[in-house]
Amino acid sequence: MSARKPYYVTTPIYYVNDAPHIGHAYTTLACDVLARFMRLDGYDVHFLTGTDEHGQKVEKAASAAGMEPQPFTDKVSRNFRDLGQLMGYSNDDFIRTTEPRHIKASQAIWQAMAAGKSPKGRDNIYLEKYGGWYAVRDEAFYGEDELTKRDGKMFAPSGAEAEWVEEPSYFFRLSDWQDTLLKHYEDNPDFIGPASRRNEVISFVKSGLEDLSISRTTFGWGVPVPGAPGHIMYVWVDALTNYLTAVGYPDTKSEIFSKYWPADLHMVGKDIVRFHAVYWPAFLMAAGIKPQKRVFAHGWWTNEGQKISKSLGNVIVPAELVAKYGLDQLRYFLLREVPFGQDGDFSNAAMVRRMNTDLANDFGNLVQRVLTQVNRNCNAAVPQHGEYTSADLSILKRAHDLLDRMRVEIQRQSFHLALEAMWELIAAGNRYVDAQAPWGLKKTDPERMATVLYVLVEVIRHLGILAQPVMPISAGKILDQLGLAADERGFDRLGLTHALEPGRALPKPAPVFPRFVVEGEAAKAQG
Ligand code: MSP
Repeated sequence: MSARKPYYVTTPIYYVNDAPHIGHAYTTLACDVLARFMRLDGYDVHFLTGTDEHGQKVEKAASAAGMEPQPFTDKVSRNFRDLGQLMGYSNDDFIRTTEPRHIKASQAIWQAMAAGKSPKGRDNIYLEKYGGWYAVRDEAFYGEDELTKRDGKMFAPSGAEAEWVEEPSYFFRLSDWQDTLLKHYEDNPDFIGPASRRNEVISFVKSGLEDLSISRTTFGWGVPVPGAPGHIMYVWVDALTNYLTAVGYPDTKSEIFSKYWPADLHMVGKDIVRFHAVYWPAFLMAAGIKPQKRVFAHGWWTNEGQKISKSLGNVIVPAELVAKYGLDQLRYFLLREVPFGQDGDFSNAAMVRRMNTDLANDFGNLVQRVLTQVNRNCNAAVPQHGEYTSADLSILKRAHDLLDRMRVEIQRQSFHLALEAMWELIAAGNRYVDAQAPWGLKKTDPERMATVLYVLVEVIRHLGILAQPVMPISAGKILDQLGLAADERGFDRLGLTHALEPGRALPKPAPVFPRFVVEGEAAKAQG
């Protein structure tokens, strides 16, 4: 038996005290679809998500809640586990950065960085005094030229207030890694996607890198720096290390580490590309560890044209959308509506349009009308086909080719294009039904009717199998209606070889994609 190829995909770990919103749900959804797709395609997948629980921001939030940080994070990290349940994520692990395995890994990477030399032969980590601007909300340092002064206070470009901090600090010699990083980007053209982000990162690095302050002494909620009492790690050093912790670091000889590291993909939002595509590979190389293979940065969602923010009171709560529209409908919408990598706008009108047009009218209608006819006119069993016409062969070929087309798109994170390819087959299927008009053949040419319906059942089988990563529940219902057993649903069953055998009994069909009726229109429809 040949070993399955490993695939390791990660989401950013979420700031533990934030209330989960649609932006959080989006990053993990994209990873979930990838993970499901790769599993069905025969890969041995490790899919990681979790919560980022250290830092000044969490310490402050805990104290505002009148709690110690640890019980506070125990409580609020549940919100992100609940989000996972709600959205149907299939993650293999959920990491919390306050777990002992993670403290151990963070201290180990620190020691490995400290033990190594930079490309210019100097210590990677050195002690200095730091004076600079720090925004707690962003957990990030800023140069004075990046800040705006208002009412005697300083603000970062994100709107977060920055304060002056002065304290002894360990520094990471990032400046020495500039050429190594640039060479890495050049040698690995797929390291950062999409291309626009890659160009941004390259010009940022070319403009010159400054050493990075990586420890703090003025608060206590974090991972202690080994051998340096009073210092705790800058939260991003600890946070990024979660990707290693989850595969067993520092045990680099372990089976799990050798199998999954380097990670295949770190999925991130566009706001945290710099941490993942500049700092993280530099930390890894400094510690003598191979960098991840790829970072992909997606865009940001706005709500009906407005930036989503707690202060504007327009946060989109995933649970409300799932309750209103349905889980698969939301999953489909988020990945179809906006080209992955670009910013997008959530609007209820667009959501309803996708539900009613793409899902109910196109996909749902194709499945429904074909399976109803098979049920009625073919004794509720897979029909027996005769000779194929060129029209039959042409649509069957499209169905057989769909996996290859989708695979290319999914592997470069173009989820919208993978779905577009799928909808091209759905449209072709509907045109084929209209052109062949099998209902008219029942009396005149029942054999031809059976062939046409057989071809359509095969088309639906391909669509159902390939829809599973994005819409697991609805696709499951379609495959149930084709009587497929669990082991008949993988991508290895696609193509001609595993075509359904005529005569297989089919259960009674039921609609899979309901139309969404907007309030008011329902009343109108009822007169
Ligand atoms: N804790 C850090 C990540 C550390 S990874 C080692 C963090 N957390 S976060 O909770 O603020 O953000 C997590 C992810 O959610 C980011 O990828 C971010 O881009 C994404 N989003 C937050 N708001 C968003 C939108 N409005 N739209 C799309 N994604 C957004 O950053």
